[in-house]
Amino acid sequence: MRVLITGAQGQVGAELIRLAPAEFNVTGLGSAQLDISDSDQVARTVTQLQPQLIINAAAYTAVDKAESDSERAYAVNRDGTGLLAQAAERAGIPLLHISTDYVFSGDAQAAYTEADITAPTGVYGASKLAGEQALAEHCSRYITLRTSWVFGATGNNFVKTMLRLGQERKTLGVVADQYGAPTAAISIAQALWKVARDYAASGTLPWGVYHFSGTPSCSWHDFAVAIFEQAQQLGLLSESPQINAITTADYPTPAKRPANSVLSCSKLQQAFGIEQPDWRADLHRVLEALKSA
Ligand SMILES: NC(=O)c1ccc[n+]([C@@H]2O[C@H](COP(=O)([O-])OP(=O)(O)OC[C@H]3O[C@@H](n4cnc5c(N)ncnc54)[C@H](OP(=O)(O)O)[C@@H]3O)[C@@H](O)[C@H]2O)c1
Repeated sequence: MRVLITGAQGQVGAELIRLAPAEFNVTGLGSAQLDISDSDQVARTVTQLQPQLIINAAAYTAVDKAESDSERAYAVNRDGTGLLAQAAERAGIPLLHISTDYVFSGDAQAAYTEADITAPTGVYGASKLAGEQALAEHCSRYITLRTSWVFGATGNNFVKTMLRLGQERKTLGVVADQYGAPTAAISIAQALWKVARDYAASGTLPWGVYHFSGTPSCSWHDFAVAIFEQAQQLGLLSESPQINAITTADYPTPAKRPANSVLSCSKLQQAFGIEQPDWRADLHRVLEALKSA
């Protein structure tokens, strides 16, 4: 099966390429090779490569910058997704797409299911939700995988930011009143390849929206504590900084973030047999990779 991966140099895109199953013929294109917001480029690429499946790992992911750059965020996350959806539909092939926990308001007490009402708190989440809607409108065979708090050895993420700040500072304040679930890019790539293999085997899938995140849920503060504990054990840091629990109000950001963006992932487990990965074990692997890099 010929598979086209967009955003191939991002956190998830790079892991999709690294873990590409040998039985698939995979082409990964970074933003310089395929700008998904350019309709001519999208149409030409799909015509030339004749993929049998597209996985869209491209997105505008700068959550705070999106507040002052909404035109670009929508051009990529809504319009780019819509262009890929239309190209996939014209070619008669499915599109696997990645979305975000930030489509939710964060006001719920329990974990969000796929049936819960979306109400993004910022431009990034709103543009990603608009992309989900464009996909559903234009493409009859799609999987949208919403995930959260992505980290990995490639690209920028919370783990790398904490390691850098841990070397620069003796104390750090980390938000302790926002709850979610860290998810390793490698686990997202594995989940998407499982879905792709199911499609290759049966020619169809239970199409629709699914949630996928690491387990257990935690606060950013809990995540930071785990990062420094493991980094010290692995000898990545000689000393851990003191990590103070602060509130969202203590750390104002341009984009408002959901207080609770924990995703319920049982629908994916039931449909595909994909279990939620233990993010602490994934964190260990990522820190080991960073150590040997
Ligand atoms: N990061 C998170 O915490 C998080 C959380 C929940 C969901 N997600 C979702 O997970 C998916 C993967 O995110 P990620 O963490 O891998 O993000 P990432 O590391 O920022 O990668 C996104 C990639 O998309 C590329 N890109 C941006 N605009 C593009 C365009 N117009 N055409 C083609 N490529 C373009 C970027 O290339 P350039 O760098 O060259 O622009 C980048 O390589 C996204 O759908 C994201 O919304 C991420």
